[in-house]
Amino acid sequence: MDRKAFIAMLNKDLADEHASIVRYLIHAYQVGESTPFGQMLLSTAREEMWHMDWLGNELGEMGEEPEMAQGVYPYDGTSNASLLRSYVEWEEGLIKMYDQQAAQVEEPALKRILHQLGWESITHKRRFESWLEKLGPEGEKPFEGEVGDLSPHLVGKFHKEVDAQYRLVLQHLRHAFVLEDASCPASSELELTAMRHMKNLSHFAEELIDSGEELPFRYPGVDGSRDVAAALSADLRLTTEAQERFILLSQDPEVARHPDLKIEIDNLVTRNGLLATMLHELAESAERGATSEPEPESETDAKPAHGGFTVGSLKEH
Ligand SMILES: [Fe+2]
Ligand SMILES: [Fe+2]
Repeated sequence: MDRKAFIAMLNKDLADEHASIVRYLIHAYQVGESTPFGQMLLSTAREEMWHMDWLGNELGEMGEEPEMAQGVYPYDGTSNASLLRSYVEWEEGLIKMYDQQAAQVEEPALKRILHQLGWESITHKRRFESWLEKLGPEGEKPFEGEVGDLSPHLVGKFHKEVDAQYRLVLQHLRHAFVLEDASCPASSELELTAMRHMKNLSHFAEELIDSGEELPFRYPGVDGSRDVAAALSADLRLTTEAQERFILLSQDPEVARHPDLKIEIDNLVTRNGLLATMLHELAESAERGATSEPEPESETDAKPAHGGFTVGSLKEH
C-alpha cells in the first residue's frame, strides 16, 4: 500500500471511530445516562474515544493531518432494538475491516492497535447482542416524541452551545494529535481538556434531547495551526467566548427557574474559567519558549512544529 492510501485508510478509521462515539453518546442521552442501558452506551462511547485517540495520535506522530469530520454511521432509530441491530451490523463491518487492515500493515505498533480495535469491536458487538436479548420485546417499542419545558429561546441557545462545545472538543483533539509529533507537553493537556468540553456538551445535549430535539453534530470546522503558540491562542479564544456565554446563561431568568440546570451552568462557569487560565499559562510558556530558544536556521534540520516549546520551558515556574 502506498503512503497516501495508507493515510487515507487511517483517516477513514478515525472518522468511523468518531461516528461511533457520537452515535452511542446520543443514544445514551436519549435513554438517560444513569440507567444501566445508558451506562453501557456511555462506557462503549468512552472506548470509542480511546480508539479515536490511538488513531489520531498515530497520524499526528507521522506528521499527517487527521480527519476531524465524522464518518457516516447508518442506523435505524425506530426503537432501542432497531438501533442495537444497526450497531451489531456496524461493529461486524469494523471487525472484518480491522482484521484485513492489521494483516496489511507491517509496522508492529500500528498492527497491534488495529488488532486491538478489531477485538474491541467484537466486544462491542457481543455487548449489543446481549442487550438486544436483555431488552426483549420491550426494546421494540418505538420511541415517543418528548415534549420538554424549555422555551424556544433557551432551546436555540443550547443548540448553539452544543455546536460550540463540539467545536472545542474537536479543535483541542486536533491540536493534541498534531502536536503529538513534537512530544509537546501541551498535547496531553489538550486531550484532557477535550474530555472536559465533552462533559460540558453533555449537559446541553441531554436537555435538548429531553425536549425532543435532534442533535445534528455537524462538522463545525477547526483551527488548522501546526504551531503550538497559534494552536493554543485559537483554543483560548474559543474558551473565552464560551466563558462569556456561560456567564450570561447563568444569569438568564429562565435558567434560574430550573434549579438543577442552574447548578450545572454555575459549575460550567468555574470549570471553563479554570480551563481558560490553564490555556493562558500554556500559551505564555509556549511564547516564552519560542523567543528564548530560537531554532537553528537550517534547511536540512526539520523544525519541530512546536517552535522552541520544550518540557523545560514549562517547568520554569
Ligand atoms: Fe472502535
Ligand atoms: Fe465499537
